[in-house]
Formats: sequence, structure tokens, C-alpha cells
Amino acid sequence: MENIQGMKRTCRCAELTEAQIGQEVVVMGWVQKVRNLGALVFIDLRDRSGIVQLMIDDQNKELSEKASSVHMEFVLAVRGTVQKRGGAENTALKTGTIEILVSELRILNTSDVTPFVVEEDIKAKDELRLRYRYLDLRRKAMQEPMILRHKVCKIARDYFDENGFLEIETPILVKSTPEGARDYIVPSRMRAGGFYALPQSPQLYKQLLMVAGMDRYMQIARCFRDEDLRADRQPEFTQIDLEMSFVEEDDVMTVNEGFLKRVFKEALGLDIVTPFPRMTWREAMDRYGSDKPDTRFGYEIKNLSDLVGACGFSVFSGAVADGGSVRAICVKNTFGRKGIDALGEFVKTYRAKGLAWINLTEEGVKSPIAKFFSEEEIQAIIDRMEAQTGDIILIVADKDKVVFDSLGALRLEVAKKQDILDKQQFNFLWVTEFPQFEWSEEEGRFMAMHHPFTMPFDEDIDKLESDPGAVRAKAYDIVLNGVELGGGSLRIYDRELQQKMFRALGFSDEDAQERFDFLLEAFRYGTPPHGGMAYGLDRLIMLLSGRDSIRDVIAFPKVQNASELMSGAPGLVEQKQLDELHIALIPEEE
Ligand code: AMO
Ligand code: AMP
Repeated sequence: MENIQGMKRTCRCAELTEAQIGQEVVVMGWVQKVRNLGALVFIDLRDRSGIVQLMIDDQNKELSEKASSVHMEFVLAVRGTVQKRGGAENTALKTGTIEILVSELRILNTSDVTPFVVEEDIKAKDELRLRYRYLDLRRKAMQEPMILRHKVCKIARDYFDENGFLEIETPILVKSTPEGARDYIVPSRMRAGGFYALPQSPQLYKQLLMVAGMDRYMQIARCFRDEDLRADRQPEFTQIDLEMSFVEEDDVMTVNEGFLKRVFKEALGLDIVTPFPRMTWREAMDRYGSDKPDTRFGYEIKNLSDLVGACGFSVFSGAVADGGSVRAICVKNTFGRKGIDALGEFVKTYRAKGLAWINLTEEGVKSPIAKFFSEEEIQAIIDRMEAQTGDIILIVADKDKVVFDSLGALRLEVAKKQDILDKQQFNFLWVTEFPQFEWSEEEGRFMAMHHPFTMPFDEDIDKLESDPGAVRAKAYDIVLNGVELGGGSLRIYDRELQQKMFRALGFSDEDAQERFDFLLEAFRYGTPPHGGMAYGLDRLIMLLSGRDSIRDVIAFPKVQNASELMSGAPGLVEQKQLDELHIALIPEEE
């Protein structure tokens, strides 16, 4: 191994162009590939910018021998002259027409044979790649989202700064704030039995910054939620978080449309049209069965309840009589009989009991439920669905929640199967007028749909006790291509109303006092009207970079069981640490 002394890198590998032909340069990087042709040795040298070809001829025996001794992932420092390639040009490479004729080569470090070959067309399994994440991150495909992420954070800081926001850090060791997920907790050494929580979001602190007169706040904030992982969920994730005083919904939305416009322009060079369309939560559910509809394609849900309420098929009439509904989507039929059965199985995972269908073939209508209907009734359904020959109508009858969940998911499943989702198309949508509460079967009480600090519609405030289910919230989500990119709300800033809200959520006055005393106390001293929102930064980068999982845009992500495969976290700690923290472990039962 040699040292770097006296050698200064002049540029990155793939920053070299034909303009530098004839110049002496110094590059440093990792060996991607070695081709030893005896008289000539070619090495592909890689760094963050890409690859450049090195050529070592046999003029200098020592140099030539050294070049022959390097292997993949060795770290080299190279001095040489840029020249036009003598042999085959490589059009796939940015530097494909040039190479460096090497005059000095130092081996800065060697490398064991890596557990997988670091190459763009990666063959290694996910688990291995995560275990050796630092090797996987050497690849361009992995670095691109990191670079984009850096850019977007910079744009966020610049944009919000220009709009009068202050970036202020809030604590990581906090008192538990409810965002609806389970907390990660941290034991206190100083106070036996005391625990901090890691913030699920900076929600209360940013509201208190408004009480403090900071006016406009932003933060690129780390959040922690102990919930089940999915493609768009990590236990530890990042928000672009903001809060504004003296605003209404429109003000928050407008600032954020400006932000997204800027991000798309500067990061992708795309002009997106603002203002974004808006849709109430009710309409989103009715048309798409989802509060985060993907509006890049049709296949909208339609209600058939009035047409089938009195029909001879008891599954349909029964669902309507029980207060549920019968709804359907009409899609192009690209499914054989087996495919239709598979869709039937698919909706069962959303608790639907079955999937009825009406197939409009060249030979006429085919349907397992046709026998229960008159020709007129079938025609009325076809008319309602605006179905054409070659289409299939897919119908679910059940309680509304099951109908929306299953048809909402089925719509997406069909689109995925038919590959009609264009990743280059970006459909933004504000979803507004969320219900304030959502009934939780598990808890047997109403829960906040957004969070307990969200302002209800003025005209619904008197229903907080009498009819909580009908209260609408001044909350809004920004949805992009079926992904909830961010969400926020106007906040309650009146102490009495906040207390009323806690009561409606089933907190006793003592409970509320114990958990939120600092907020309720602060509300005594002149709280300005305020509101804000937070983006999932990981989700934004996922969509901008066309990835399917936020795991691909986080440098060191966690896997399904919330562990981090590279470091092995979570790990065990020493007894001494536990003792200091006043913690006794319960031995696991054999
Ligand atoms: P909310 O809980 O809706 O609101 O979160 C805001 C946004 O954060 C992202 N997000 C996640 N991303 C990755 N992994 C997760 N586990 C995860 N959970 C949420 C989503 C979501 O839209 N304090 C409020 C915001 C406010 O009212 O201002 C909040 O946290 O993109
Ligand atoms: P059956 O008469 O039970 O064989 O059902 C006839 C058709 O209705 C089958 O295609 C079932 O998948 C479908 N079906 C059953 N239950 C439901 C339901 N709740 N909603 C929609 N279709 C259903």
C-alpha cells in the first residue's frame, strides 16, 4: 500500500472530456475492471462521477507490473495524460472516447474479493446488498437517489428561506406526542422509571414555536414511528416539516405548490402546473375508494346500489338493506378466466366476500350472476358503467368500508397488471375536508384521523360531542400518483376548544393535563392562528427517482423486522448499562 503524499486529485473520473486531451491529470478511485493484454493493461477506474479508462503500456516495466497486480475494488491514485482512445470507443460511457495514458500509479489500498460484484446490472440478493450497503452504494443506480435527495434538501432550504421561514431544530428526546403510531422510547438514567420518546414528528414543538412568535418555521426533521414496514414506510424517516402563523388553508397550499414547482423544475427540469386540483375526501372515496387516489388513469368506482337494491341476488340486495352498498369498476378485459378468479382472490385480502363480474364479449354478456337479473337490469348496470364490448365490470357488495377498500385496491391492481401507470407522469392532488375522527373498532372509540391538534370546520364544532362522525377537519393531504406525499392542517389555537377535542377523543381532563399540560399552558399566553404541513422526504425522492420503495432512497435503511442488516442494530447492551437505566429484562420463556 502506498500513500497519497504529493498527489492532488485534479478532477473526478467521469468529469474528463475531450477538452482535456493532452493535459496531465490526477484521478483517484476504485478498480471496476482490469483487462490485461500483456503489452497493454486497461483498467476501468470508478468514482462517484462514473468511470474512466486507464491505459498502461509496457514502456515502463515496473509500472506495467504494478498495473497487472491490481484487482477489483483496489483504490488507486493515477497520474497521466488524457488522450483519444486508440482502440474501440465505448458509446455507453460518458468518457467513452478518451482514456488516460498512465505515468504514475499508486495503490492506495487493496480489497478482498467482495461478497458481490459491484456492477450496475446487480445480481446479488437484497439481503447481501443490505449487509454490505457501503459496497452497494458504490453503484451509480444507488448514488443517484442520494444525489437527488441532497439537491431536494438544498432546494427546500433555499425556497423556504426565500419565503421567510427559519430552520429551527427541535429535540429528539421528547415527551411522547401522539401521531397514531407506537413510540420508540428511551429510558432516562437520571430519573428512574422516566422515559423519553423519540418524536413521531415535531408537531407540538413547531406549534410552540408559533406561540414563541417565530412566525414561519421549517425543518428537515427525523421522525420515528414503531409501525409495520411497507414499501413506503420506514421506522425512521425524514420529513420536510413546516409551520406558519396567521394563515388559512389556501396560504399553506400556495406556498407548498410553489415549493413543489421549484423542486420539479430544478431537480427534474419539469414544469408542473399549479394550482393543483383539489378534491374532498368524500369525493376521493366515492370515485377512487381511497384517500390518496392515483388519478393517472380512470377505472373510477360507480355506485350501483339504487339499481340492484331490489334485485333477485340476495348478496346485493342484502348488502344494500344492511346499510352497505354495491359498487363497481369497469375495466378493459385483459384477463382470462383464471385471471378473473385471481382478481376474486385479490379482493378477499381486503375482506370482500366475493367479486361478481359482467363480461361484455363479442358473443354477448357473460356473467355468473346474470341468472339473478332481468335483461333490463343488466343493461341498466352496463349503461351506468358506460361499459363497451371488450370491457369487464367488477362488482363488490358489502359494508361501505370493505367495498371502498377492495375496489380501491382492485383498481390499482388492474392498472399494475395492465402496466398502464406512467412513471414519467406526475398527477398532484390536494385531498381536503377530511373527517376529524375515524372510528377504531380495536379501541372502541373515535380516534383523530390526522392528529388531535387539527382544527375542525367552524360549522361542525357543535357536533364534536353530539355527532363526532360528521365533523370535518381543516386538514389537507398532498397526493402524488397515489402516494400520500404529505399532510397537514390548520391547528386549534384556542385552549377551550383543544380541551374539548381531547374530551371528544376520550382523554379524561386529568389525562390530557398529564400529557399535554405544556401545550394547554402555552395556549393561555396568546397563541396565533397557525397551520402547516409535513412531507415525507423519502417518498418525495422515491417518486422523483422513479423507485418503488423508500428503502432505495435511504442510505442505511431498515428491513421488515426493523433491524439494520449492516450494523446488526438493534443489539444487546451490557448489564451495567441496564443497571444504570434501572431496567431489568424479563428472561424470554423457553
Ligand atoms: P403525517 O403523520 O401525515 O403528519 O406525516 C407526514 C408525512 O410523512 C410521511 N410519513 C412517512 N414516511 C415514511 N415512513 C413512515 N413511517 C412515514 N409516516 C409518515 C408521509 C406523510 O404524509 N405532524 C404532522 C404534519 C402536520 O400536521 O404538519 C405529521 O407528521 O409522507
Ligand atoms: P354465488 O352465488 O355465491 O356462487 O356467487 C355468485 C358470484 O357472486 C360469484 O362470482 C361470487 O364471487 C360473487 N359474490 C359473492 N359474494 C359477493 C359480494 N359480497 N360482492 C360481490 N360479489 C360477490
